[in-house]
Amino acid sequence: MFKSILIWVFGALLLLQAIQIDIPEPEAVDPKAEIKAPEEIMAMLRTSCYDCHSYETKMPWYGHIAPVSWEVKSHIKEGRAWLNFQKWENYDEEKKQKFYKGIVKSINLSMPMPMYLILHKDAKLTRVQRKSIKKWAQSNIKEEN
Ligand code: HEC
Repeated sequence: MFKSILIWVFGALLLLQAIQIDIPEPEAVDPKAEIKAPEEIMAMLRTSCYDCHSYETKMPWYGHIAPVSWEVKSHIKEGRAWLNFQKWENYDEEKKQKFYKGIVKSINLSMPMPMYLILHKDAKLTRVQRKSIKKWAQSNIKEEN
């Protein structure tokens, strides 16, 4: 009995592998288009944000296995489409301002995504780190006129 359930579960998982989300291939990366920030900020963005907001995604092995991969890849796809730190200079000023404000707003709660942090302890930011990212983003926000 137990054995046949196991076989069914395993078979179902195998079938699921046929359904995969495709992430579009990275466009040519222009190194000049990458966001410029002080090195300590860049280091934090790289370890905590680049998996979803750049083309430099370090994909864990389980990121390829359905159904986890659906979740993981859709976050990468969406995160990149939303904001790609390697395409920063291609955004117009209005959009950059929107992102700086978005970073100020999201850095304390929603970014990096909490679910991601459960599996990526190294991407966790301390309160002090969050503060310095927030301060950096705020320093780039121009006064509303
Ligand atoms: C696991 C993937 C993932 C990681 C890691 C991640 N993001 Fe995101 N981010 C997303 C997705 C997906 C969206 C799209 C909108 C949403 O779901 O909130 C998003 C949206 C955003 C937005 C736009 C939100 C808005 O209100 O305009 C900002 C700003 C942002 N992320 C900043 C960051 C920063 C800064 C980091 C690192 C500290 C980070 N993100 C790490 C997936 C991620």
